[in-house]
Amino acid sequence: MKIWGLCFIGFGNVGQGLARILVREEEKLYHKWGFKFKTLAVVGRTKGACMNPEGISLQALLNRLDRGESIGTDFISPLEAVRLSGVDIVIDVTPTNLTTGEPGLSITRAALNEGKHVISSNKGPVSLAFHELQKLASDKRCEYRFEGTVMSGTPAINLALESMAGCEFYEIQGIVNGTTNYILTRMEEGLEYDVALKEAQDLGYAETNPEGDVDGWDAAVKAQIIANVIMRNTIPLSKVTRKGIAGLSRKNIQAAKSKGAKIKLLAHIQRTSDGVLASVAPVELPLSHPLAGVDGATNAITYNTNNIKNVTIIGPGAGREETGQALLSDMLSIVAHEQVLF
Ligand code: HSE
Repeated sequence: MKIWGLCFIGFGNVGQGLARILVREEEKLYHKWGFKFKTLAVVGRTKGACMNPEGISLQALLNRLDRGESIGTDFISPLEAVRLSGVDIVIDVTPTNLTTGEPGLSITRAALNEGKHVISSNKGPVSLAFHELQKLASDKRCEYRFEGTVMSGTPAINLALESMAGCEFYEIQGIVNGTTNYILTRMEEGLEYDVALKEAQDLGYAETNPEGDVDGWDAAVKAQIIANVIMRNTIPLSKVTRKGIAGLSRKNIQAAKSKGAKIKLLAHIQRTSDGVLASVAPVELPLSHPLAGVDGATNAITYNTNNIKNVTIIGPGAGREETGQALLSDMLSIVAHEQVLF
């Protein structure tokens, strides 16, 4: 049986979330899914790096981090790690940079060029270079998968692309940012904005730079990913109309509440005669609206299609192990595809 060589680039919240699942489920993954793996390299952003051709114990790494120690002191750069012989799947869990896509973009290009699969929760490379990376993966006969970029482990992308294959998508509406939905829910419950934001950060929902969440960038890039990947478009992020929640006060939220409504940060992607339009803005929804009851860090997306009309998926939109699960599902899809081929 093949032993899949893994390499983690980045080992923050999401990387550790995946590592925890892999440690906990290792036996089951082997027996139920035929997935056996060996971690060959882990390169952190700020906490050192380690490599071992015999395999690294993820549990030992997690223990080191819990004790406040570094991952290791091996001198290995992300690009060297990606190119190590024996690495089959590169796990890009570097932080999102929407301007340059780096370091994830260079890592992804290098890995795909080597014919290595890439699974990623990093929205930057998908936003800036989805079509290029997809073509590169196809040319090199490997896969580039990024389920975790939208709605964390809730299968928003693969549901649309794989389970709903053949459907035409007319309109997609969603609550796609866990941090802002969490903040809005907690403010409805009476908390101040700063306290609610701090809670969202402590729970691991917020981006490294939380302005990305509250100013609507994170929801906007997800709207762009949905437009380009699911509706097969080519709109740049700059074409997504964007308004965040930073201007909202507890008073606005309470006023909506007293009218029997809720304010939600809504992403809206629509196919029109002028092409695909995408926007993100706080919208007052009546309680009867299907997305009004989606609270906390939970996300939801409604797909409006030709063949099956409306399909709504609701589930976690952020979190360490929740996003780790998205990476795991991408990894198991790659394993399953290879098992079918050989
Ligand atoms: N910061 C994001 C959110 C994490 O709150 O939804 C998942 O992309």
